Amino acid sequence: MSRDEFSGFFGVLVATVGSAVGLGNLWRFPYLVGQNGGAAFILIYLAFVLIICLPIAISEFIIGRKTRANTVRAFQILAPKTAWSGIGIVGVLAAFSILAFYTVVGGWTLDYLVRSVIHIFAKPDISALESQFTTMVTSPVRPIVWTVVFMVVCALIVMCGIKKGIEKYSRIMMPFLFLMIVILMVRSVTLPGASEGISFLIKPDFSKINTSVVLAALGQAFFSLSLGMGCLITYGSYVPNKENLTKLSFTTALSDTLFAMLAGLAIMPAVFAFGISPQEGPGLVFIVLPRIFAQIPMGNVFAVMFFVILLIAAITSVISLLEVVTAYVTEKLKLKRTVAVAGITVIVTVFASLSSLSQGVLKNVTVFGKSIFDFFDYLSANILLPLGGLSIVIFVGWYMKKSLVYQEFTNQGTLKGTLFRTYYFIIRYIAPVAIAIVFIDLILR
Ligand code: PHE
Repeated sequence: MSRDEFSGFFGVLVATVGSAVGLGNLWRFPYLVGQNGGAAFILIYLAFVLIICLPIAISEFIIGRKTRANTVRAFQILAPKTAWSGIGIVGVLAAFSILAFYTVVGGWTLDYLVRSVIHIFAKPDISALESQFTTMVTSPVRPIVWTVVFMVVCALIVMCGIKKGIEKYSRIMMPFLFLMIVILMVRSVTLPGASEGISFLIKPDFSKINTSVVLAALGQAFFSLSLGMGCLITYGSYVPNKENLTKLSFTTALSDTLFAMLAGLAIMPAVFAFGISPQEGPGLVFIVLPRIFAQIPMGNVFAVMFFVILLIAAITSVISLLEVVTAYVTEKLKLKRTVAVAGITVIVTVFASLSSLSQGVLKNVTVFGKSIFDFFDYLSANILLPLGGLSIVIFVGWYMKKSLVYQEFTNQGTLKGTLFRTYYFIIRYIAPVAIAIVFIDLILR
């Protein structure tokens, strides 16, 4: 059976940008910026994206397209009978770890969306908005039900395959997503009092920087670009041979960063305009934004719009996470796609249910001092993804033959490959050293 493929550059791009742009941009980025001192955090983040993450994205695509296999098999093909395929296995585990908390936020989003549609003509009651987030996350059933609904939607898309599933839905949803975030951003920056929020985003205060801020920026860069866990290896395995991997990685990184900035500009000015603390944490977009929407003209419409944006962004990312596991399971166990996806969905739902209860019934259960939800988040973004990224650059930079890397980089010599030397230098020296320093510093602290 021939392997499914994306249809061309635009198809791969929307799918990859769809994977990259997600709750990471709209929910995680704004609250991290808020907690870690604003503009200074953003600058470090940008440096990581450009210098470290971009070359890693190219490396993942190279591994994927060269081997045309799932992320575990890809390493087995390139390094037979070695332990390198462990990178792939850890990647699959990271996918589970992310899905375990990410789908819960997807569930919250659906809950909020449905409620904002129902109340679109109602006059908002601000005092009730205060408690609605807590009521929702502490309920024993509601978050689970919505998480399951959300998971099923994503599973159905992945069941349809690459071209007819992932690519098709990304093509429809991504342009719409972009348009809506721009409208929301314009609304936010034109609110009276927005300027304080804007300066929070552009005026750096370097006194706020310490190791954990730097690690948070590194983790967020990996998380936001879907790196370090085989997502781009998997998508890369469906990229047609004639497409330029450097251009693809660059456009993805640029779009993702642009999107994060738009999200920051859509959220922070409003937060400041209404005198809310930017340090609210994971609840930021769920607690703060509804209060803001309640106070602006046509706020209900903007509320619906925002949760639609969040939902679309979450779906196109979750399908990429599901695809990492699906490709592995279907190819390893020779299962039909539908069967594999159904099985994975059940397993993810079990873990997600646990983390969805971690602010309510399971509040007292902690793993390494963190709630179940926070544990999965921290484990994946701050540990598994950077370690995965480190292993990937060492693999491509030091284990793979340089000529092989060059061939794939230049599409078998048909592209000029002007940037190859810079790229190769970074993955061999700069990226591994930089990631290692962040980790060593963290351990020694
Ligand atoms: N990049 C996604 C986001 O920003 C999350 C993600 C991480 C998706 C890793 C796939 C792999 O929301």
